[in-house]
Amino acid sequence: MKIIQLTDPHLVQPGQMLNGTDPLARLGIVLDDISRHHGDAGLLVITGDLTDDGLDQAYRALDERLRKLGLPYRLLLGNHDQRTTFGAIFPQVPRDEAGFVQSVLDTREARLIFLDTLDDGKVGGRLCATRLAWLEQRLTEAQGRPVLLFMHHPPFEIGLPALDHCLLAADDALSLATLVRGHGDVRQIFAGHVHRPAHGLWNGVPVTMLPGTNHQMPLDLHDASVGPVDEPPAYGVILLDADNLIIHLRILAPPAMAPAHG
Ligand SMILES: [Fe+2]
Repeated sequence: MKIIQLTDPHLVQPGQMLNGTDPLARLGIVLDDISRHHGDAGLLVITGDLTDDGLDQAYRALDERLRKLGLPYRLLLGNHDQRTTFGAIFPQVPRDEAGFVQSVLDTREARLIFLDTLDDGKVGGRLCATRLAWLEQRLTEAQGRPVLLFMHHPPFEIGLPALDHCLLAADDALSLATLVRGHGDVRQIFAGHVHRPAHGLWNGVPVTMLPGTNHQMPLDLHDASVGPVDEPPAYGVILLDADNLIIHLRILAPPAMAPAHG
């Protein structure tokens, strides 16, 4: 199975700029590339921060682009999203019984679990008791089957002070680790939020984070005050079979990123 992951498009009012670039235009370039090369993908996952400030028009623009792309998709929420507005524009995206945008997708190769780490109004992420209980049930059902987890906030610090203060809450990460260990075959965590390509190992589980489609955070290991920079966006091409998983990073180099004006 081929899965495409992209993250953090931060859409704003169509036509407006964010951090010096046009989020909708940049998302369009990424989606065009996906359409050109990976129209055979079985799933597109966007791991949160779909919009920059939860605007209705921004979600509508995303809906329009995804309809045009025509791939099956799952959308996650990030700290910049607005749960109610999102739900109004995307009523078909599955939620759990409590209304969190959490769901599973069972494929031939694995159970995919999509988590909701949005803590309304906060930059950091949470997996509250309700969400953790839901996850525990989904993992129990999948005993003996491989699991892949998708979530916006990474569950551990990545060595960048500008980001390490606003990841998944430490207590919730501990609870998540217990659930992951209890299942025993969680093979990969896919996250967003950090606007950088980064790969690591957490409690024995590989974790991959990707650049956003609009703007990136600099690789600064010391300064907590750094802000967004214009580095190339990328998306992930995940190839999955019963035994193996590989993630290719498709980097869209600057020449391909020329603004699509005129
Ligand atoms: Fe973001």
